[in-house]
Amino acid sequence: MRVGIVGCGNIAGNHVTAFRAADTEVVACCDVDAGRAAAFAARHGIPSSVTSVDALLDPGVDVVSVCTPHPTHEAVVTAAAARGAHVLCEKPIAIDLAAAGRMTAACDAAGVTLGVLFQRRFWPAAQRIRAAIDDGTLGTPFLGHATVLLHRDPSYYTADPWRGTWATDGGGVLTTQAVHNIDLLQWFMGDCVEVTAAHTTVKHPIEVEDTAVATLRFASGGLATLAASTALTPGLGTRVLVTGPGGTAGLAEYPEGSEGVNDVWAVPGAESVRSPFGTGLTSDIPLSAINGSLAPFHTLQIADYVDAIRAGREPAVTGREATKSLAVLTALYASAKSGRPEPVPSSKENRP
Ligand SMILES: NC(=O)c1ccc[n+]([C@@H]2O[C@H](COP(=O)([O-])OP(=O)(O)OC[C@H]3O[C@@H](n4cnc5c(N)ncnc54)[C@H](O)[C@@H]3O)[C@@H](O)[C@H]2O)c1
Repeated sequence: MRVGIVGCGNIAGNHVTAFRAADTEVVACCDVDAGRAAAFAARHGIPSSVTSVDALLDPGVDVVSVCTPHPTHEAVVTAAAARGAHVLCEKPIAIDLAAAGRMTAACDAAGVTLGVLFQRRFWPAAQRIRAAIDDGTLGTPFLGHATVLLHRDPSYYTADPWRGTWATDGGGVLTTQAVHNIDLLQWFMGDCVEVTAAHTTVKHPIEVEDTAVATLRFASGGLATLAASTALTPGLGTRVLVTGPGGTAGLAEYPEGSEGVNDVWAVPGAESVRSPFGTGLTSDIPLSAINGSLAPFHTLQIADYVDAIRAGREPAVTGREATKSLAVLTALYASAKSGRPEPVPSSKENRP
């Protein structure tokens, strides 16, 4: 299987490592910035670097991995699908539901497999919660809490021109960071149907939000809260806590980027606690270290994705599955704007 990487920035190296571990060949990389593409190819021993998706596809590529800014995902995914390549796309799938609908439709029409990266689902501790929901140990959660308490240096928003505006980033902490935890909440609690939200920008020199709070209502009748910010110094990591009829399970990531652990497992007969702050607070770590430490879980998800193509089955996170967290984001921004509860557009409404 021949793989091409599009977008040679912060996260792309994880894709190279993961595709190689899945016994595929990374044959080319592409970036609109020719120097960045060439440097990335040299650093990772990739034979060819190009500046357009068409040039990437010309020599014959079976899979395209999309590591470009969110609003550009659609053009890359649809171009790759039109040429018959399978496509793996970074999160969030897109910044609006119409684009996500066009992406899934294009991949369906071409008969190619669309997968979307939500590698935190592949933490063993996250899989353990999902299994405990499925086997009835926890049961369907009726209460959830997600906190996303992160540090970003202001330079994070100024280093890359696409960050921090509605048009080129699509949103702030909700879209870029908390989307992982929103994905986990809805993976554990089921379809989210209505939200209320408020957001603000307290620290960073950006147009989009750096801080937000929300409540979420699920089709099951369950409720959850969300608090998210990139304005903390120091950051305190992230946590998702869910309570079902059988008990409560927590999933904590500290420092940011490290493997999530079950910080609390409050199921009668199987109780355990493990503080993610066991060795004390650490100072904030550079973004490159955060992204690098995500690599083992990119590797697990990309192994699933490659196996899905080889086996002719759906990957763990399809385009439609990834559209669910985008639908929640859409409702969160609508509620913050209207000041009222807003419905989450259903997946049927998201199709073109
Ligand atoms: N799964 C995760 O945990 C995770 C972590 C970090 C980033 N991401 C996602 O990965 C994507 C990229 O983020 P990043 O931090 O690596 O960004 P980045 O800015 O570091 O890199 C993006 C690269 O894409 C290039 N690019 C832009 N438009 C292009 C196009 N049309 N064709 C080819 N190249 C193009 C840019 O020149 C840049 O080099 C984002 O969607 C982000 O949300 C996911």
